[in-house]
Amino acid sequence: MKYADRTNFMKASEIRELLKLTEDPEIISFGGGMPNPKSFPINFVKKITKKVLKEHGPQALQYGPTEGITPLREVLIKRMEETRNIKCNLNQILITSGSQQVLDLVSKILINPGDYIVVECPTYIGALTAFNAYQPNYIPVQMDKNGMKTDELEEKIKASKDKPIKFIYTVPTFQNPAGVTLSLERRKHLLEIAETYDIPILEDEAYSELNYSGKDILPIKSMDKNGLVIYTHTLSKVLSPGFRLGWAIGNEEIIRKIAIAKQGADLCTNMFVQFIAKEYIESGLIDKQIPKIRRMYKRKRNIMLKALKENFPEGSTWTKPGGGMFIWVTLPEKINTKEMFEDALKAKVAYVHGAAFCVDGKGHNAMRLNFSNTDDNKIEEGIKRLGEIIKERL
Ligand SMILES: Cc1ncc(COP(=O)(O)O)c(C=O)c1O
Repeated sequence: MKYADRTNFMKASEIRELLKLTEDPEIISFGGGMPNPKSFPINFVKKITKKVLKEHGPQALQYGPTEGITPLREVLIKRMEETRNIKCNLNQILITSGSQQVLDLVSKILINPGDYIVVECPTYIGALTAFNAYQPNYIPVQMDKNGMKTDELEEKIKASKDKPIKFIYTVPTFQNPAGVTLSLERRKHLLEIAETYDIPILEDEAYSELNYSGKDILPIKSMDKNGLVIYTHTLSKVLSPGFRLGWAIGNEEIIRKIAIAKQGADLCTNMFVQFIAKEYIESGLIDKQIPKIRRMYKRKRNIMLKALKENFPEGSTWTKPGGGMFIWVTLPEKINTKEMFEDALKAKVAYVHGAAFCVDGKGHNAMRLNFSNTDDNKIEEGIKRLGEIIKERL
C-alpha cells in the first residue's frame, strides 16, 4: 500500500501503547487519563433516555444538522454565559464529537504542511496526535506554576516573525498533563499578544468544572472582543466521555469553515446523545452531578498529594492542582522516567513518562500521575511503590 506522506507524521500515541501494558488488573495505574466510572450519572441517563425516546424518538434517531441541534446549542449558549461568561449566538457555536474533534477540525482548516503552532510544554498529547496529521512544526513554550510563560511566548513570536504561526494552543484551566492554571494576568497578556501579532488562540477548557479550590478564573474567550479565540469544551468530564459530546465557540466565519470540515468527517454529531445532553443540562441534573464529582476527585487529589509528600525522595517536586485530574511530578535530573517504567511495571504500578508530552525533547525526569480513576486505598500504595523505585534508582 502506498500511504500518503502525512501518515509519516501520524505516530501511534505512545501513551496508548503504554496503557495496553497496564491492563493487568493487578497494576495500580496512574497512567490513564480517564474519568472515574463512579462519576457517571447512570440513573439520570436512564431516566433521560426514556424521555428522549418518548418525546423526540424519530428525530433523535435521524441524521441532523452539522452544527448540532438548535435546542442543545441554545442550552449551551445559556450555560456558557452563566458559568464561563462567554457570550455567543447560534452561528458562533457548533456541536462536535468530543472536543477532540474540534482539535482535528481546527487543524484541518488552518494548518498547511510546515506551518507553526505554539504549544505549552508539556501539552495534551491528544492535541499533538490531532495536529500531527497536518504536518505542522511546533514552537514550544515552557510553563511554571502559573501556566504558560507568556513573556517567553512573546519573545518566541517576535523571533519567528517570518514564520506562519497559525494558532496558539492552550489548556489554561487545570491543564492536562501539568495540573496548573494560567493566571489571570497571563490570560490577559496572552490575549494581548494574540491581538498584537494577529494569531488566533485555540483555548481548550476541558477541565474547568473539576474545580476543587473554589477559585475560578474566567476563560480567555470571555475577554475576547475581536473573535480571535476559538474555544472548546466538552461533556466528557461531567457526563460521559463515551458519549463523545463537545463543542466549539468562535467567530461566525470560523464556525462556518469548521462546519464544512465536519461535514466531510462525520456529517453530524450523534443525535441521540445531543438530545440526552440537552436534557441533562436543561433539567439541572448536571448541577447535581458536578458537586459529587468534585468531592470524589478532590478527596483523591488530597490522598495523592499526601502520599507524595510522605514517599517521594528529596529533590522531587510536584504541582498542586486546584482542579482537573493530574499531578505533574519532576524528579531529580538523573532519573529517566521512560527507562524507569520497566521497574514500575515489575512493581505493578504505572504512570506516563514526561517526555511523551513535550515537543522540545524535555521532560525526561518528569511523570504525569492521574488521580481520578484509582481507588482511594490504592493511591497510597501505588505512590509508595513508586517512591521506593525512585529511591532505588537514585
Ligand atoms: C485537554 C484535553 N482536551 C481535549 C480532550 C478530549 O476530550 P473529549 O474529546 O472527550 O471531549 C481531553 C481528553 O482527555 C483533554 O485532556
